[in-house]
Amino acid sequence: MDEVPDFKDKVCVTGAAGFVASWLIKRLLLSGYHVIGTVRDPGDDKKVGHLWRLSGARERLQLVKGDLMVEGSFDEAIMGCHGVFHTASPVLGLPINSDPKAEILQPAINGTLNVLRSCKKNPSLRRVVLTSSSSTVRARDDFDPGVPLDESSWSSEELCERLKIWYVLSKTLAEKAAWNFCMENKIDLVTILPSFVIGPSLPPLLCSTASDVLGLLTGETEKFHRHGRMGYVHIDDVALSHILLYENENAKGRYLCSSTVIDNHQLAAILSARYPTLSIPKRFKFKAGFEKLDRPYYELDISKLKGLGMEFRSIEEMFDDCVKSLIEQGHLPTYHETME
Ligand SMILES: NC(=O)c1ccc[n+]([C@@H]2O[C@H](COP(=O)([O-])OP(=O)(O)OC[C@H]3O[C@@H](n4cnc5c(N)ncnc54)[C@H](OP(=O)(O)O)[C@@H]3O)[C@@H](O)[C@H]2O)c1
Repeated sequence: MDEVPDFKDKVCVTGAAGFVASWLIKRLLLSGYHVIGTVRDPGDDKKVGHLWRLSGARERLQLVKGDLMVEGSFDEAIMGCHGVFHTASPVLGLPINSDPKAEILQPAINGTLNVLRSCKKNPSLRRVVLTSSSSTVRARDDFDPGVPLDESSWSSEELCERLKIWYVLSKTLAEKAAWNFCMENKIDLVTILPSFVIGPSLPPLLCSTASDVLGLLTGETEKFHRHGRMGYVHIDDVALSHILLYENENAKGRYLCSSTVIDNHQLAAILSARYPTLSIPKRFKFKAGFEKLDRPYYELDISKLKGLGMEFRSIEEMFDDCVKSLIEQGHLPTYHETME
């Protein structure tokens, strides 16, 4: 096992088996933390096996059951922890005819409050870091495209309902609910707002983000997310930012976490030139009926997180790591060109 620093805090990570949480746990263990991860089924080896293979897991990781929809479900996991990283939230796209309130909004909003009520009962708690999303900032029409959006911006709930972008609405309402609860109950909350997360996936089953990227790289771009312009960030930068925001005494409020914002067409041009053996199209077609989701031009102001010392990897670095891992996991055909 790698040498680790002296024992650090005991922290809880909700949704431990997810794409973002798995990488966060990898980084927390490498930094010497004792981690209590919550999952819906700790006995499901297909979902949690990769966590047990992380360096330090056998010594400093515990997995316990936690379901956002079961009141009090996180009490045991959170009690005695100094920090809580709340990442669990429904991310999957909804099947047609499903009920967005039951499947996305309630678990995101009520689940966040459920986790925070457990935090309130825990006298050891120092800080909660909530994984929100840059989508809580950018889904609005009433801004000056010449001025980058920063953490003072909130997505329009009316626009989200009109466009039926339930995930964005769920993240926006969940983060607002968390701020209200934590202010009323004097809980130290910091929120992190990642853009689209790219990089190697530790869970062997592809999450929705990784499936989207695979759709792009294999030419099935209708599977790729349907927004014309998007911010991107390396998964390791997301994990490191979570830890920075937990550890830094001066961290306060919301933090956008993103490297570069680019149009899908620019992204396709960069990636098709970089990986010529993959069938990446040079232009994107919008999935029929989804043209209205093409958002106006925007930039993100990431100076707040950079001000705490964070530096972000480039688009090329994040996709190189992502492509390499998709090949290693057998999701992409072997790629013979040198990536540099
Ligand atoms: N990926 C991105 O590009 C991105 C960008 C910005 C923000 N985020 C945020 O990052 C967080 C993690 O997302 P991800 O990309 O890592 O997605 P993911 O792999 O789908 O992880 C989501 C996690 O939430 C858990 N979850 C969902 N419903 C639950 C419930 N009812 N009870 C308990 N756990 C539940 C899932 O548990 P199961 O394993 O049991 O299904 C899963 O572990 C989310 O809050 C997401 O909004 C992601």
